[in-house]
Amino acid sequence: MPEIDNNPDTNKNQSSSARKEEHLRINLEEDVQFSQITTGLEKYYFVHQALPEIDAADINLSTTLFGKKLKAPLIISPMTGGTETAGDINRNLAQAAQQTGIAMGVGSQRCAIETPEVNNTYQIRDVAPDILLFANLGAVQLNYGYGVAECQQAVEMIQADALILHLNPLHEALQPYGNTNFAGLLKKIERVCHELTVPVIVKEVGYGISQSVAGRLAAAGVSGIDVAGAGGTSWGEVERHRARSKSADNVAAAFKQWGIPIDESILMVQRGAPDVTMIASGGIRTGIDAAKVIALGADAAGIASPFLKVASISAEAVSQAIHEIVEGLRISMFCIGAANLHQLKHSPFLQGR
Ligand SMILES: Cc1cc2nc3c(=O)[nH]c(=O)nc-3n(C[C@H](O)[C@H](O)[C@H](O)COP(=O)(O)O)c2cc1C
Repeated sequence: MPEIDNNPDTNKNQSSSARKEEHLRINLEEDVQFSQITTGLEKYYFVHQALPEIDAADINLSTTLFGKKLKAPLIISPMTGGTETAGDINRNLAQAAQQTGIAMGVGSQRCAIETPEVNNTYQIRDVAPDILLFANLGAVQLNYGYGVAECQQAVEMIQADALILHLNPLHEALQPYGNTNFAGLLKKIERVCHELTVPVIVKEVGYGISQSVAGRLAAAGVSGIDVAGAGGTSWGEVERHRARSKSADNVAAAFKQWGIPIDESILMVQRGAPDVTMIASGGIRTGIDAAKVIALGADAAGIASPFLKVASISAEAVSQAIHEIVEGLRISMFCIGAANLHQLKHSPFLQGR
């Protein structure tokens, strides 16, 4: 539970890197998963096929996303950067992504744009020259002085293949002195989509994307949407651990059940933006979960929190965790007779309970 500290200026004066350090510590040490909302994936199961009629050795997990080939449809979701610890974590994640042939995003680069000395904590191309790499900024920064130039700067800083803009209205609203002016953002996102030299993906951070938001983002020209639904890491819980007053804790606690679970968000985004590449994240913990989100309609699965924990140990530990997810995905496909991702996506064997 958060300690009581009635001095709100503690938060106001906290530097961006100190806040990042605190976010990392809380995510590594505390239980900040949703406790009252599940991903919804438990409502689905694959009808086991005892006669799959394929050779498991022939299963092909490879895919092409935003022009780059991946060995498996997996993404290490954006998390960190800006401190020495975060830099080590990014390098461990990147080495494992390179070794296993999956994609990766770095955390918000606002810190590096405002304090160029920390740029190196985001730079991982020397250890991951081939991966699909996403730059990251909060979309709301477009209302706080950022424009296409800063977005381009974030991309070039790390030689990224695409830019992720994250939408986090609830997280901003729950944190002291958060950036809560989301007025007129869509027009600005549209401009970035038209002027940036790389594709733009928009994601939530754990509360899901609705059909209406997906439709407006598609019309604005985004190339991808990551649903980042509820059921995994909860930023409300993270902020409860940062809350400096009982009152702030109570406000955050009231949002325990807020958010669109990943299964519903996938279906909403599919209806709102049927032609946009869809990434699904938010509580994916096994290869079976990854198989389910693809069978529901996603093109790739993103995972954050479990990779953070192993990345604080070593690159090998991350590779091992990725290997386990890939194996779970491969075996799920085997047991429903899906030889490739196209067949998984169109499998008739995913059923609601
Ligand atoms: C420590 C941590 C930091 C994060 N920072 C960012 C960020 O900077 N930008 C972003 O788009 N998402 C960020 N996220 C959200 C994740 O990318 C992901 O959407 C969310 O955590 C849900 O996935 P999970 O349940 O597998 O953790 C962060 C998540 C964690 C755990």
